[in-house]
Amino acid sequence: MRKVLAGLVSMGLLVSAPVFAEEIPKDQKEIEKQIRELADKYGCSTCHDIDKPKNSIPFRVIAKEYQGKPDAVKTLVTSIKGASFAKWQKIGPEKYGMKPKAIYMPRQRSIPEEEAEKIVKLILSLDTSKVQVKK
Ligand code: HEC
Repeated sequence: MRKVLAGLVSMGLLVSAPVFAEEIPKDQKEIEKQIRELADKYGCSTCHDIDKPKNSIPFRVIAKEYQGKPDAVKTLVTSIKGASFAKWQKIGPEKYGMKPKAIYMPRQRSIPEEEAEKIVKLILSLDTSKVQVKK
């Protein structure tokens, strides 16, 4: 039993699932506030805003692209901690009518993995019903 539990913990199954529901607020204003706090703390705000295109695409547009995708959290945490190169140069203009000024995001060293996961989950919880997608 111990081994099974340890296995589950190491896969993150026991810890992440229940935490998710509690951690992420329901209120959109609160979600936005927490995103801004983390983005300011870890320097993301230099390049990202929730709604305005800066050097990169806005978080709400990133949310629209990844919501409902099975590995969204993992993919985005990997981009933040590892770097992301030119993914948005094509889908940005084609789907959302905007192109990030910078071609790549350097790997973000200052943000710890858990905080990266937190901001990703907050980003994915943004209301994207008004984001326009070009056909
Ligand atoms: C120096 C500018 C810069 C900083 C600082 C920066 N980003 Fe980015 N970010 C970008 C660019 C440019 C892209 C688009 C990369 C691409 O096209 O692959 C991007 C893409 C992303 C994506 C989408 C990745 C994907 O796989 O589609 C996420 C999520 C993201 N950034 C979150 C963050 C977070 C969180 C921080 C702070 C810890 C941060 N970024 C800091 C420039 C930046």
